[in-house]
Amino acid sequence: MKTKKSEQHFDTVFQKEIHEGLTAFPKYISSKWFYDKTGDQLFQQIMNLPEYYLTGCEYEILDTNTAEIAQLFSDKEGFDLVELGAGDGKKTKVLLQHLVTNEMPFTYKPIDISQNALDSLENDLQKVFPKLDMITQQGTYFEVLEKLCKRSSERKTVIMVLGSNIGNLNHENAIKFLSDIRKCMNPKDLLFMGFDQKKDPSIILSAYNDSQGVTEAFNKNVLKRINSSLDADFDLNSFKHWPIYDPETGTTKSFLVSTKEQKVSLNKLNLEVSFSAWESIHTEISQKYDDHIVNWLAQEAGLEVFVKFQDSEEYFTDYVFKKI
Ligand code: AVI
Repeated sequence: MKTKKSEQHFDTVFQKEIHEGLTAFPKYISSKWFYDKTGDQLFQQIMNLPEYYLTGCEYEILDTNTAEIAQLFSDKEGFDLVELGAGDGKKTKVLLQHLVTNEMPFTYKPIDISQNALDSLENDLQKVFPKLDMITQQGTYFEVLEKLCKRSSERKTVIMVLGSNIGNLNHENAIKFLSDIRKCMNPKDLLFMGFDQKKDPSIILSAYNDSQGVTEAFNKNVLKRINSSLDADFDLNSFKHWPIYDPETGTTKSFLVSTKEQKVSLNKLNLEVSFSAWESIHTEISQKYDDHIVNWLAQEAGLEVFVKFQDSEEYFTDYVFKKI
């Protein structure tokens, strides 16, 4: 591989990180770059796939335990329900329905990086729950948590992170994420977070290697994104989607593997990247957990598990954390 320029200037974080990852050994791209408009749509499709059990399991948890969860959240002074990475809010709707029907005082504050996702969520929820008190906020977790930390109100805050989004972080970053959340919590606040559990490895692997090839398209979409934003010429057909699951660590890793020796030009970066045959780009981790790992992460972050909810197969767990 060679850079045509010795002194490189980057206009965006995307440019900088793609350059870094594709000139590193072994090569990598962060999965946070999966989520452009097409990536968002593909992820919505993934959540409806029969193999992607995570969504159905968490839906079941919220659906079967709605009253108990609502009771845990409620406060006579009302509460703020802050949902990080709200997406289409499909799972949260069950809970919102219960809270609205029972006239429990609360404000729903969905947060997402995508303004598109927030606009359609707001439209949808206004139709279904005209009485819902809702304030949307666009931004990264980091920006949003910073704002949350600065709030002056004493109102109870419940932070929700569904879908095992934490699994896309390695343990070090997961602890950092949990610690950042903890810093913004008052003693009566709660964190409600989904963690996909260790289970039969073949079930996990199929979730990341579905028969319709949607996850493959989702993984390869990052190359498409690089092609269009960085004037590059990745040939998607000469990369293979390759997920693996390590039952010892509970880590699912996804790769794109070059099926031949090839060179790819990224014109906007003045970069030519060489691939040997069967060389990989690591694109994603999706960590799987058990109580032991979750308790350890929580403790490292200054949190403790208060109560947990599981689906009937025990594939997925939503944990409720409090500040220690
Ligand atoms: C968003 N995140 C929790 C998903 C996961 O399961 O890691 C993203 C995903 N990647 C492949 N399929 C779904």
